[in-house]
Amino acid sequence: MTAPRALVAGNWKMNGLKQAVYEITRLNELINVNGATCDVLICPPFTLIGHLNSLSAPNVAIGAQDCHMNMSGAHTGDISAEMLNELGCGYIIVGHSERRADHGESSETVNAKAVAAQNVGATAIICVGETIEQREAGEALDVVTTQLKASIPDSATTDNTIIAYEPVWAIGTGKVPTAADVAEVHLAVRNQLLDRFGAGGDAINILYGGSVKGSNAAELMSVANVNGALVGGASLKADDFFDIIAAFGHIG
Ligand code: 13P
Repeated sequence: MTAPRALVAGNWKMNGLKQAVYEITRLNELINVNGATCDVLICPPFTLIGHLNSLSAPNVAIGAQDCHMNMSGAHTGDISAEMLNELGCGYIIVGHSERRADHGESSETVNAKAVAAQNVGATAIICVGETIEQREAGEALDVVTTQLKASIPDSATTDNTIIAYEPVWAIGTGKVPTAADVAEVHLAVRNQLLDRFGAGGDAINILYGGSVKGSNAAELMSVANVNGALVGGASLKADDFFDIIAAFGHIG
């Protein structure tokens, strides 16, 4: 089975006001001029999605950082996958560690959110990752594979699912795991996908996230079973983010 193109995705988290439009037009222009060998996605806050999707920036897909598991109803402050679909979101991140920690989201909740995303035709980017305490206790593989098993719905396919491995201790800290550690976790993720989905599991993209920047992207992205990146801080400025996209040009 042919894998989709690698994906470099930016997660703006709770950052970005209207002036951030500039970063999308700049990013689109950088890709126009220099090309890109991967797909490119930005997930801004909900408030900017409609606006950014109305720009003429065909090189940059716009996605969301979360959705509710239900399509409508009495859930004050929440946003449904159907609403995001109406805004043109083709990708929805679910189960980011910040949501698991800040909002107490369990892997079962994440699974239901992934189904909601898939049901509107979006690709769910399902996040997993261990804390520093879990890594130091030698539990990283166990934690990641357990989270993954419960978070991925049976409905997962190459087209509607992407996995993102983001060690919690690497997010926003400037610390990154060694290439060997990334390889070990990504292989465990790949093996679980193969066990569960057969040959289709080989073509599901697995992203690495956690302090990815231009200077370390080429090394991280060349690790086996790393099919792209999920980027926080370095995705906020188009020029920084493009350095990561350009790193793909140096691989393979
Ligand atoms: P940083 O790239 O800022 O470490 O954030 C990673 C992340 O959490 C992306 O979802």
